[in-house]
Amino acid sequence: MDIAQFKERQAHAWGLGDYSSLSRVLAPAARDLCDACAVGAGQEVLDVAAGDGNFALACAGEGAAVVASDLAPVMVELGRARTEAEGYDVEWVLADAEELPFAGDSFECVGSVFGAVFAPRPEVMARELFRVVRPGGTVGLTMWTHDSFTTELFGVGRRYSPSPPDLPRAELWGDEDTVRERLDGLAARIETERRTIVWEGESPEEFVDRLERDAPMQVAARQSLSEEELEASHADYLEVVRRRAGGDGPVRIESEYLQIVARRRG
Ligand SMILES: C[S@@+](CC[C@H](N)C(=O)[O-])C[C@H]1O[C@@H](n2cnc3c(N)ncnc32)[C@H](O)[C@@H]1O
Repeated sequence: MDIAQFKERQAHAWGLGDYSSLSRVLAPAARDLCDACAVGAGQEVLDVAAGDGNFALACAGEGAAVVASDLAPVMVELGRARTEAEGYDVEWVLADAEELPFAGDSFECVGSVFGAVFAPRPEVMARELFRVVRPGGTVGLTMWTHDSFTTELFGVGRRYSPSPPDLPRAELWGDEDTVRERLDGLAARIETERRTIVWEGESPEEFVDRLERDAPMQVAARQSLSEEELEASHADYLEVVRRRAGGDGPVRIESEYLQIVARRRG
């Protein structure tokens, strides 16, 4: 599979399931990133790999002029409907984080919440984000750290839906040293902070059922699994959730992520 085919598959897969139920869980990270980037009224902001618009909405709520973009046509539709329904005038654009259709120096802040980190070529994506932000402007990213619950779930997913082996894992963006290496030469100053998001459910079974029904990548992976593999993958997810939740009762698991705020060199 080449990069173009990989992205075509990603654009389709991210439109499956019911992403909005997951995005609501990630919304606090978007609001915190908006604060950390000091987004304010009148600023021009770009949300990259925006999903249904968590970061776009947080910034629009501060009075910023926001453009939101995503690789998946379904996400752009969902996001446009959500920002309209919430009464914000956000411009939505279908766009690949590695090839943004904007002129250089267009935005004061470019942010991506658990989004652009899924672009297959980290250096290409980083160059694009820093190209479209103005000198002195801010680039904000979030990604799960190596030991976080969500990264462990990704590991189960990979067992049943191998991605092309030569692509770096997205969660490397959750490692401070890797972030500094990748942004070296682009950013004048980089601040990182470890934070947490809380995942909740009635029970491990309910949590995994919801994941399999709503999470786009799980829905996509399940389409090509045999009955045996479906059962095995369900059992593997259940084992992780049960262990992390400490049993079969209600689920409340803190998942660590890295918040990255970097200023473009002037
Ligand atoms: C976990 S979701 C996060 C969405 C959103 N930022 C949020 O806060 O909920 C990942 C998003 O990245 C998008 N995505 C994946 N690869 C992308 C790429 N190469 N360029 C742009 N968006 C991409 C997906 O379509 C999906 O909407």
